[in-house]
Amino acid sequence: MKFITFLFVIFFIANCSSPNLNYRTVPMAPGEKASEHVKIGKKYMITSQGRHSSQAGLKMMEMGGNAMDAFAAVSFAISVERPQSTGIGGGGFLVYWQPGMEKPLAFDFREKAPLKAHKKMFLDMSGKEIPRKSLDGIFAGGVPGLVAGVIEAHSRYGKLPLHAVIQPAIDLAEKGFEVYPGLAKALTYRQKVLARFPATKKIFFKEGKVLEEGDLLVQTDLAKTLKAIQARGKNGFYKGWVAKAIVEEEKRRGGMIRQADLDQYNVVQRKPVTGSYKGYDVYSMSPPSSGGIHVLQILNTVEPLNLSHYGIQDYRTIHYTASAMQQAFADRAKYLGDMDFVRVPLDELTSKKYAKSILAKIPKDRPLKKSEVLPGKFDGYESPETTHFTIMDSEGRVVSSTQTINGYFGSGLVIPGTGIILNNEMDDFATKVGAKNLFGAVGGEKNLVEPQKRPLSSMSPTIVLKHNKPVLALGSPSGTRILTCVAQTLLNYLEHNEPLLNAVSSVRYHQQWYPDELRIGAFGLKKETEDKLREMGYKINHKNLGCRVQAIAREGDNLIGVSDPRGQGMAAGE
Ligand code: DON
Repeated sequence: MKFITFLFVIFFIANCSSPNLNYRTVPMAPGEKASEHVKIGKKYMITSQGRHSSQAGLKMMEMGGNAMDAFAAVSFAISVERPQSTGIGGGGFLVYWQPGMEKPLAFDFREKAPLKAHKKMFLDMSGKEIPRKSLDGIFAGGVPGLVAGVIEAHSRYGKLPLHAVIQPAIDLAEKGFEVYPGLAKALTYRQKVLARFPATKKIFFKEGKVLEEGDLLVQTDLAKTLKAIQARGKNGFYKGWVAKAIVEEEKRRGGMIRQADLDQYNVVQRKPVTGSYKGYDVYSMSPPSSGGIHVLQILNTVEPLNLSHYGIQDYRTIHYTASAMQQAFADRAKYLGDMDFVRVPLDELTSKKYAKSILAKIPKDRPLKKSEVLPGKFDGYESPETTHFTIMDSEGRVVSSTQTINGYFGSGLVIPGTGIILNNEMDDFATKVGAKNLFGAVGGEKNLVEPQKRPLSSMSPTIVLKHNKPVLALGSPSGTRILTCVAQTLLNYLEHNEPLLNAVSSVRYHQQWYPDELRIGAFGLKKETEDKLREMGYKINHKNLGCRVQAIAREGDNLIGVSDPRGQGMAAGE
């Protein structure tokens, strides 16, 4: 969202029931109510990017369900409420913890490349990238994983039947809801691509134009598909009439996904990446996401500096944190990919020893140029949209899940008769070595397309425990910015001891190696800090980072939920 179009609403939360929620001035997204973005509860808490979705989760709790029931209900409901961001035609990750577990678990339900996919599929005969082939239309879509992932996690740890957790999504799709500002903006942004596909047009257009703010969005076909899943579980999506509709559309448009791809889609339970920050245990998503590795790498790099002595707004804090980010992205380009296909030096990248060597190379008084930042060397080693929500319940269960169809409305293509929007996750692969994805991140050899491989992600659903008790859980959408926004929010809360609302709403910045610039969010940086950074040689680009952090902290008996005021969302709990 552009700075000038950002509506500033000042709100004060004057010493609510928690001493740690002092008033604060934050800019609110248009149409959002400040009172819905922060909530204190004792029993359970949900923060998501959708009012209806948070309420769907709340309903499960009220019915006697647990955090995993709320997870499933929010996953399906947000697929309806944020069709620009996520959906059952997409995929995601979940990091989950419940008391009694030795460590949190990670569920990987990321899309997979079709069996027929190959590394030259986005290149022309001369080896040049075919513009937008990985972004718009049939080839952009990976084999969806969301339905399989949500059902698998829920069937293992949920209490309520699938029937109950999917019902709020069906009701929302059938009854519809008013188009809110963020959805209207995404529709306008993608209208040309959406108009190319009659099944997409049928849902999102009225009298030849995209729906506008205040129009009712009803998704009847999607409700039918959700009912098939409600009746037959995973088979309602991966087999039967829905699967047939997907395969027929793929064939009709020359696409690659076949029944064999749907049959072979598998959810993978992985170990989350694990690290520590000053006595806190941090768990985040492992490959095929780069998120967790680099969140830990950034935390490890700045840990010895005790940045709280300087404060969030100090130029030294920003300089060292941004330099740690820059190194993380140089390593991402070289080393990261799907670990089922390539070796990733996970332990090395997340070690305190490597972090120490990074810190030693950061000059005190100037930023490093991108040419000065090289990927690390390890002994013995060869070689716009998503959504996040967070849940905690009274028994100490924690859900942190990021789900996506990648760019706004994914590939733009709705599978006729199903309401399913096909993702454009194939763009998260490197279309060739050195090529940039939608978020400008360069990709390497390890992230080239291969059949059944999962494209590299930056999604970073994260859980922090101390002595096996939940302290904080969070995540965000926004491509490569996800991991830097998550790292900063962790630092704001764990290092700078900021109240959660401040930790989420403070200034954000991002440095991703390429381009060679320090991107600073739309508001909040002190002028003298910016002047100092420029003096040091930083090229500053003011541009919203797009992150919408959804966080919950456990402080004593209180569960504090904060849904990023920069976007649509709701913290709901009791
Ligand atoms: O997995 C990833 O990193 C991307 N597909 C996420 C896309 C995203 O966050 C878009 N959000 N605004």
